[in-house]
Order: sequence, then C-alpha cells, then structure tokens
Amino acid sequence: MNFLAIETSCDETAVAIFTDDLRILANVVASQTDLHARFGGVVPEVAARAHLQQLLPTMDEALRQANLTLAEIGAVVVMNAPGLVGALLVGVSAAKMLALTLDVPLLNANHIEAHIFAARMAAGRDIFPCVGLVVSGGHTSLFHCKTPLDFDLLGGTIDDAAGEAFDKVAAILGLGFPGGPAVEREAASGDPKAHAFARSFIHEDRLEFSFSGLKTAVRYALFGHGLTKGPLPEPGPKRANLAASFQQAVIDVLVAKCRQALRRTNEKRLAVGGGVSANRALRAALEAMAQRERIELFIPPPTLCTDNAAMAAVAVEKWRRQLFAPFDLDAVPTYHGKN
Ligand code: KG4
Ligand code: ZN
Repeated sequence: MNFLAIETSCDETAVAIFTDDLRILANVVASQTDLHARFGGVVPEVAARAHLQQLLPTMDEALRQANLTLAEIGAVVVMNAPGLVGALLVGVSAAKMLALTLDVPLLNANHIEAHIFAARMAAGRDIFPCVGLVVSGGHTSLFHCKTPLDFDLLGGTIDDAAGEAFDKVAAILGLGFPGGPAVEREAASGDPKAHAFARSFIHEDRLEFSFSGLKTAVRYALFGHGLTKGPLPEPGPKRANLAASFQQAVIDVLVAKCRQALRRTNEKRLAVGGGVSANRALRAALEAMAQRERIELFIPPPTLCTDNAAMAAVAVEKWRRQLFAPFDLDAVPTYHGKN
C-alpha cells in the first residue's frame, strides 16, 4: 500500500511516497530558500505562490523516483497544521482534490508530531514511548510522546524558537539566510567560551525555553552595552566567537532541558526533530548526554530533520485505525496539542 504525502507549511514544497510498512520510496523537497533570501526571512505570500507553482512538478518527481503512477497510490496525506496558513492551504487543497479524484482516503498529519516521527522513520524500529524535542524555526517544544499520536506537551518556548534565534543572530552577524547552517559554519572557527551568554532557566525545574534575551545579548556584545544597532561585523575571530558562544548557549539549554524531561518522565529514549537538530554541535552534545545518562537517542539524518513529507508517515498509524480526514479539513496555523 503506497501513501503520497504533501508538506507545504513553510518554505519547502515537499512530496514523499512511502509504504504502510514505513519504507520511503521517494522524498522530494523543492526549497524556496533563494526566493526568500533577499527578504532575510520567509514571506508568507511569496511562499504560498511558490507552493502553487512547485507542488505538481514536485509530485511528478516523487512519482518518477518511486517508479509509480498515481493509480498505485492508496491514500493521500497532508500536513494541515501548524504553519503559515496561506502556505498550508495550497497543500490541503491539492491533497483533497487528489484524494477525491483517485477515490482514496485522505489523512492529515500534524507537522510537529511528524518531526518526531521522522526519528522513527530513520530508526527503522519503534521508538515510543519517548521524550520528544522539536527544535525548529517555529517551535522549541518538549513532549512526552506516549505513542506516535498521543503527545503531552511538557513545555515550550515563551518567546523565540531556537531556529528563529539562529536566524535572527545570523542576520545580526550579517551571515545571511537561512541562518542556522550559516551560524553553524561560522561557529566552527570560533571559541564557544569567548562570551558567557546567559542560559535561561537552565538551573530551574521548569521545562520552558527563552531565547530572545540571548539574541539581545549578542547585539550588546557586538555593538556595545545598550546598543542594538551598528555596522555588520567583518569576517574574523570576533564574529566567529559570537557565533560559537551563541550556539553553545542554545545547545547547553536544549541538552539540560532534555535531561530534565527524561528524568521527570522516567523515559529512557529521546527523539529529536526539526531543522535545528541538523546542527552537528547540538547532535554531538546530545549524544554525549545520552551516553552519560544511559538513554537511547534517536536523531534522524539532516534531510529528515528539516522539513520534508516523509515524516508525514505518522499518518499510517491513523490509516490503520481508519481515522480518515474529512473533506472539509482546514488548514490550522497553530499547534493546539492534538491534531
Ligand atoms: O524544521 P524546519 O526545517 O522548519 C520549521 O518547521 O520551522 O526548521 C527550520 C529552522 C530554521 O530556523 C533554520 O535556521 C534552522 O532550522 N536550522 C538550523 C540548522 N539547519 C536548519 N539551525 C542550526 N543549525 C543548523 N545546521
Ligand atoms: Zn518543521
């Protein structure tokens, strides 16, 4: 049984084809990064229009790679929440029409739950129950994941998401968009101990995050105390040290909160997903913590960390239980805990 899945929540137009035994036959991502780069961030209207243009060619490419025709697709999955509502609407509309035309079931998946399920896809075996960390451009959230579809939110960010902080600090340092990979590259030649940036809530018994102060701290360190504006820094050790120290502060907090969540839930497995989990320094720090704490760590390879449609295979669980989506399925911009 083959599933075709569509993801259009932000700035990646993605189509994947997978089977009911969770084999990925195609995982195609058409990135819009170049379109948004000159604006320094994702422009929702531009994203929605680009999805409209790219979705059918991306679907064609996925079918070609899987060596399948539409007639061999048994169900259509769409990620309908959360995300940019105009962008989501493109995917939701296309999925409905496809399911209707092919006369196959329509299923919906939640983007956040799917980011954790990407770790399950990569592991090739069950990873539930576990603690899940979703660390992306829009979310920094810890969950107690009892099953693929039953998550309890343990805590999230009270201001910026970690990926958002990476993107904003990249802009402050003049490293361009998208910021995460650019900061990671810059940090590689810097000293993570050069600046002792505050690690919000790190010693507190609360599973929440705050990254907006860190961004301001980077500004003060760069432009002088109290100054939030100034010329872009030149390439060199000063800029690299700021990137490395910022990255280390984010990593320390993420690792500490994962450890707290594991202890609080008494789980022995940690699954991590979302674009920021592509960061090599974060992955290494989580691996070190996992060894120390004797827990199993599941982080997918970078292509399954960033937005993709293969992670929508979480909907296979819904299909097994015949939890199909109605044809009046809506695009939902926010995450309400359950999909
Ligand atoms: O999961 P994702 O692709 O999209 C959302 O659902 O938001 O995550 C995108 C975020 C962006 O903020 C991007 O800067 C960040 O993930 N990111 C990284 C890295 N690669 C992507 N952050 C740090 N290091 C990276 N290597
Ligand atoms: Zn995402």
